[in-house]
Amino acid sequence: MKITIVGAGYVGLVSAACFAELGNHVVCVDRDAGRVERLRKAEVPIFEPGLGELITKNLAAGRITFTTDMKAGVRHADILFIAVGTPPAGDSSADISQVLAVAGEIGEHLSRFLVIVDKSTVPVGTADRVRETVLNALRQRGSKSGAARRLPDFAVVSNPEFLKEGAAVEDFMRPDRVVIGVSDDPSGRKAEALMRQAYAPFNRNRERLIVMDVKSAELTKYAANALLATKISFMNDMANLADALGADIEKVRQGIGSDRRIGYDFIYAGLGYGGSCFPKDVAAICHTARESGERLRVVEAVRSVNASQKQRFVERIAEHFGGSLEGREIALWGLTFKPATDDVREAPSRYIVRRLIALGASIRAHDPQVQSIEQLMPGESVARLGQRIRFVSDPMQAVRGADALVIATEWKVYRSPDFAALRKSLKKPVIFDGRNLFDPADMKRLGFHYQGVGRRA
Ligand code: UGA
Repeated sequence: MKITIVGAGYVGLVSAACFAELGNHVVCVDRDAGRVERLRKAEVPIFEPGLGELITKNLAAGRITFTTDMKAGVRHADILFIAVGTPPAGDSSADISQVLAVAGEIGEHLSRFLVIVDKSTVPVGTADRVRETVLNALRQRGSKSGAARRLPDFAVVSNPEFLKEGAAVEDFMRPDRVVIGVSDDPSGRKAEALMRQAYAPFNRNRERLIVMDVKSAELTKYAANALLATKISFMNDMANLADALGADIEKVRQGIGSDRRIGYDFIYAGLGYGGSCFPKDVAAICHTARESGERLRVVEAVRSVNASQKQRFVERIAEHFGGSLEGREIALWGLTFKPATDDVREAPSRYIVRRLIALGASIRAHDPQVQSIEQLMPGESVARLGQRIRFVSDPMQAVRGADALVIATEWKVYRSPDFAALRKSLKKPVIFDGRNLFDPADMKRLGFHYQGVGRRA
């Protein structure tokens, strides 16, 4: 099939590479000429396992091309996926101006039936606004040319993406489900047939396509992320109670996860969720609810638990040192919002770094992907912070002479350190583990003062 993807970000690049790998002819459009230039040389701007290989291979096979030319993209496609950014707007809604700008451009160049797919996470009702924007652009074109021609037909489809960073290629290639929202009219049915064709390779052994109306598909994406975020905040709430009661959240996790209705996934207590999706989507769905005269009371609580989780963590570190960290040297392992990514958006480490420094500490940080303050806090003024944090290339270098070790991301390299060397290196054998990597009883035996989240020491 002929597929165009607009937006060479996470979702766009992964979708483009995977559809090309399945034998489709994919054009990937991005307005950033520098990015397009680099992608043509197979230089992938994001760290995502397997993605570079797929792009290299499909570039060589001529199944994927990169361009800034929207007209070429629109003219090429049977199906066009909009995968541009939807950053948080000031009022915690999602900013869909980039999506609508793309819709306008589609309208300028549309010449035959096209399926326009919202792939980015967009608020419920966006498909309607995309349709309106395309129609307006088409009408303007019609009135400019003066000809009373029939407007070309198109359909707007919602096809939310459920991929996880770090496992995006795998998630795309082996989806649990593919949600497709189409309208109940002739263009919608035509679009459904084309979408079924595009996703047929994913549907071999089991029916994975779930077709529904457009608004339900849009809401499905938010409901999924809000429920996953709810599991995390619920466990963090429980972990704090476990702390107060002297129970162990790890034991509780095993105890409840074994119930298949609950399941083992997403019930790890820690520093709360971060990343580019959960915080933004949870805020946006609360905003949408309020706009519709409803309140998502559970999801609002999920947000507030998540915000306080990292605060409590730093408070406990400060308490250990009598309230001030003046003159203290803290080693920090892990900066990205989760392992196997270079993404620091909404990473708990950013809050932790700011607070520890505000409390007087100096930091020596290690992360396999993040090696500078500019990378950790892009776009922020960091001159003052920069003087108080050093980045080192080896985890053990970070702990040498430090008053305590703080673990903020569960990268694999931190999972089995040489504990004897670690104890010797630290000035005091103190560990605050925001990811519950180790067993408190073992740590005690090894001579550490070890505090996890909700773990019985
Ligand atoms: C998330 C969803 O998992 C994807 O299904 C979804 O497609 C994506 O958002 C999106 O909307 O685009 P992602 O943000 O890549 O994917 O990260 P996750 O692996 O889901 O982790 C999210 C956060 O939750 C991380 O900060 C992680 O540390 C935290 N987490 C996760 C916990 O604190 N405890 C858990 O048990 C699980």
